[in-house]
Amino acid sequence: MNTEANDRKIKLQLRDMSKLYDNGDGVAHINLDIYEGEIVTFLGPSGCGKTTILRAIGGFLDVTGGEIAIDGQNVANLPPEKRPTAMVFQSYNLWPHMTIYENLAFGLQLRKHPKAQIKQEIEDILKLVSMPGCEKKYPGQLSGGQQQRIAIARSLLLKPSVLLLDEPFSALDAKIRQQMREELKKIQSDLGITVIFVTHDQEEAMSLSHRIVVMNKGKFEQIGTPTEIYDKPSSKFVASFIGEMNFVPEKNEIVAVRPEDIEITEPTNSDYVGTVQLIMILGHYVSVNIAYKDIEIKCFMVREEAAKLKEGQQVGMKFQRFQKYGQE
Ligand SMILES: Nc1ncnc2c1ncn2[C@@H]1O[C@H](COP(=O)(O)OP(=O)(O)O)[C@@H](O)[C@H]1O
Ligand SMILES: [Mg+2]
Repeated sequence: MNTEANDRKIKLQLRDMSKLYDNGDGVAHINLDIYEGEIVTFLGPSGCGKTTILRAIGGFLDVTGGEIAIDGQNVANLPPEKRPTAMVFQSYNLWPHMTIYENLAFGLQLRKHPKAQIKQEIEDILKLVSMPGCEKKYPGQLSGGQQQRIAIARSLLLKPSVLLLDEPFSALDAKIRQQMREELKKIQSDLGITVIFVTHDQEEAMSLSHRIVVMNKGKFEQIGTPTEIYDKPSSKFVASFIGEMNFVPEKNEIVAVRPEDIEITEPTNSDYVGTVQLIMILGHYVSVNIAYKDIEIKCFMVREEAAKLKEGQQVGMKFQRFQKYGQE
């Protein structure tokens, strides 16, 4: 009866929040509860309003309506430094003429922490972000990934109750980006802080988040766990934005089926018969394009299965799992 979900404490509430710019762009009537210790990601194409929401939460933009409550207190009228939030931007924003130590110490000095304590806090936080002993270096002597770790360390030193990250890894190489995801997840679970993450990268969102908010044109399309969003996209937009998806027109509907959910069968007794067009080995799995009516359907399968196929061959397809959407 007593499920964990019901016991969780709400950390942040957006209540009918709006931020409209003078030209009418922006976001309106945003409602969302975020729980303590959660990583929630706003995911959507460029211009859908992700940064607007994050900056409004951080206090860098004044809302035009509604409430932002953190631990039950409305913070919508407080300046950024009075909010229990800290924000990390896409560009690292470290001061280039200051050492890493000076960059990190700045906020703590403003808060009048004693010198010895600052030194200890910096030593500890550098360990946490896997950058021990780099106090004397300058930002220019560090790689992009290392600078971004320092930027995250700097925001963590302020002990925010909610950490806001706006596409923090998008300037980094794919490999480093993946490593940073793993580290962020580890730091988050070590500290138990609440994180709101913004990205346009669906893989990043899937791998990092407890819940994802998929956005389109200033609106929430779907809120759910990565699994829910991947397995049951609530709209055609979500289905096309997350992962690979085939859209097969059928009478008055569109059948959406993922490449890994198609089983190849004999052409007899199959509703979907097509011709193998292209076979590509992509490492541990194989991608096969099958011409069906006037579209191509992409299928993923293991290598043993693909080894039985030849280009030009007629095959049947069985959709193991699919969604249906109305025609546009
Ligand atoms: N300062 C601004 N003045 C007017 N319009 C803006 C401003 N900042 C963003 N916008 C518009 O608001 C919408 C949302 O922008 P933004 O929140 O930056 O999107 P995202 O971060 O998802 O790319 C876009 O249409 C953008 O052009
Ligand atoms: Mg943005």
